[in-house]
Amino acid sequence: MLKNKAVILAIESSCDETSAAVVINGRQVLSNVISSQINIHRQYGGVVPEIASRKHIENIDNVVKAAMDEAGIDFSMLSAIGVTYGPGLVGALLVGVNYAKALAFGLGLPIIPVNHIEGHIAANYIEHTELEPPFVCLVVSGGHTNLIKINSYSSFEIMGQTLDDAAGEAYDKIARSLDLPYPGGPKIDEISKKGNPKAVMFPRVMLEDGSLDFSFSGLKSSVLNYLNKARLTGLQISKADIAASFQQAVIDVLAEKALMACDAAGCKELAVCGGVSANTSLRARLKKDCHKHGISLYIPSPILCTDNGAMIGSAAYYEYIEGNFGDMSLNAVPGLKIKERRY
Ligand code: KG4
Ligand code: ZN
Repeated sequence: MLKNKAVILAIESSCDETSAAVVINGRQVLSNVISSQINIHRQYGGVVPEIASRKHIENIDNVVKAAMDEAGIDFSMLSAIGVTYGPGLVGALLVGVNYAKALAFGLGLPIIPVNHIEGHIAANYIEHTELEPPFVCLVVSGGHTNLIKINSYSSFEIMGQTLDDAAGEAYDKIARSLDLPYPGGPKIDEISKKGNPKAVMFPRVMLEDGSLDFSFSGLKSSVLNYLNKARLTGLQISKADIAASFQQAVIDVLAEKALMACDAAGCKELAVCGGVSANTSLRARLKKDCHKHGISLYIPSPILCTDNGAMIGSAAYYEYIEGNFGDMSLNAVPGLKIKERRY
């Protein structure tokens, strides 16, 4: 069944999820085991890097074994080991990188270094088998907000990026100021459903005409100022209204710029990825806008939007067929950029 196929075991440990997956030819997922540390970090209001690294060490062996068991294959059937080597938290990345190196060395298999953001983009290939480059991709994660033209499986052109906060970062900061638990994105998503998105008109920062860059720090300050003023003057605020109004401002900008990017690239296919793409309202809005403009929209299921090993296995396959292998000197690169190769 697996003859002549690339069977990749992929490992992801860049932040607070320890994950391993077995993926065939970049598109067929045999297993995708995710061990989340969210409950541990929640009590600190955010990810504590030192704790994240320690938990990855405790979890990684069991997560890899569970992924192999669930896939129903043994190590001798693998073609390569893929691993996230950046961007992310250095200590967290190092756990996955070192584990993958030891496994690849022990099994005599090639190691494939994978860029975490390119992994998020590849999450779109898993459920949309018809999707092939070229297309435009909106990347909205905790650390990144980009509009990227995917010219081929290995060629990316950055069309726009955030000049300050990432969209997910803004969600998490506003959630914290509303006393909502970490991670804030899913909480704001949830409580916004009971709020009025038109309650407060927060700014939509579009930057100069035609710009595909983003800026969320002005919006963040505006929400924080509003909350401070309300507290000082004793104004009763509805958390749900503030959350919904903030979210609406983010979504208006993301949706408008994503469509502008499709137009600028002359592309009728838009993919979305990263943790914020799990957001219910963003998904609904993009669906509506894309339908109106005759654009095909691709968004992974929510479980493939946030960090997972399967997306790394998909991206690793496209590196594998190009022969982009690392060696035992592979290191974690916490500030790795899209398109950059540091091995
Ligand atoms: O892609 P991801 O799992 O990790 C990074 O690579 O950063 O993204 C995590 C981010 C967090 O900021 C989290 O609050 C946000 O994605 N997020 C959401 C939702 N689910 C996760 N933001 C808005 N709505 C959601 N449903
Ligand atoms: Zn991520």
